[in-house]
Amino acid sequence: MSVTATHPKPPGTDDRAQARRVLTGDRPTGRLHLGHYFGTLHNRVRLQDAGVETYLVIADYQVLTDRDTADRLDEHVEDLVLDYLAAGIDPARTTMFVHSAVPALNQLLLPFLSLVSIAELGRNPTVKDEIAHSRQASVSGLMFTYPAHQAADILFCKADLVPVGQDQLPHLEVTRSIARRFNDRYGPVFPEPGALLSDTPLLLGTDGTKMSKSRGNAIALSATADETARLIRRATTDAGRHITYDPDHRPGVSGLLRLAALCLGRKPEDIAAEIGGAGAARLKQIVTEAVNEHFAPLRARRAELAADRTAVRTILREGNARANDLADATLHEVRNAMGMSYA
Ligand code: TRP
Repeated sequence: MSVTATHPKPPGTDDRAQARRVLTGDRPTGRLHLGHYFGTLHNRVRLQDAGVETYLVIADYQVLTDRDTADRLDEHVEDLVLDYLAAGIDPARTTMFVHSAVPALNQLLLPFLSLVSIAELGRNPTVKDEIAHSRQASVSGLMFTYPAHQAADILFCKADLVPVGQDQLPHLEVTRSIARRFNDRYGPVFPEPGALLSDTPLLLGTDGTKMSKSRGNAIALSATADETARLIRRATTDAGRHITYDPDHRPGVSGLLRLAALCLGRKPEDIAAEIGGAGAARLKQIVTEAVNEHFAPLRARRAELAADRTAVRTILREGNARANDLADATLHEVRNAMGMSYA
């Protein structure tokens, strides 16, 4: 399994076998792209298939941290579920739920907020970065509370492993602090979850920089074969005719080679050697074919699932119900531990 934990269990133990419960999630801001797929989605499916109990939060409230509107949020949520299902997430084994549909999460938020300082939240590098790139006229209070919000996402199900990108590590530190401080103050309730980082290096977009929807350089998982061909045809390469794998000096060419390599299960250097003097046109042809072939089954499955939106909504309703049961049970425990049980 090509994953490594940043907070390893005692030496010699296998994290996959150790992990009892995994939680991870995404903001519903649009369709997922190949960077998401190779970065995290693929690993989530592998964990699920390895028999680990898995939870996936669709963090709808988090969308409000950096933008003013929740435009088409319900459509984005359904798109996300379709991407998950098409990629191999199985609703019988993985609970997919929407944050706002689980009210007990927000009841956990208040005690959690009492356990972190404003200074801690203010110096969180991810929060700082989001403030710098915010699409809001001013920074909202929600922006500062959302790491605690995310701690509730993770701790409500007592997850012990969280597969995330590097950018989310500061949030996981907040979560671990909250769990530790809660346990110290009120007695043992929460595990301190570890991060699971993918060892796949960042996938570059068609302009040679990090693949991201907002940069317009992303290939959606759900793109058609023609759309994929068009995006790759427009990809940035360079003037060197001979194709070589050199990520530092040739980001465009190397990004394309890596994408082909991931799809074909081969080494980028070998693909480069094979193309040699045939140049960027041949490279683009190879990448397009590799992507379209690799994702054809996923795309076909997605199209089929998209034709039955009622089924998607049912899956979500069932996931929400399961998450609510678990969140209610945890909230009950929290209230007992805090001496706030009035029933
Ligand atoms: N903040 C994450 C992102 O922007 C999404 C997210 C919300 C998340 N809750 C989570 C990720 C809990 C891991 C665990 O991508």
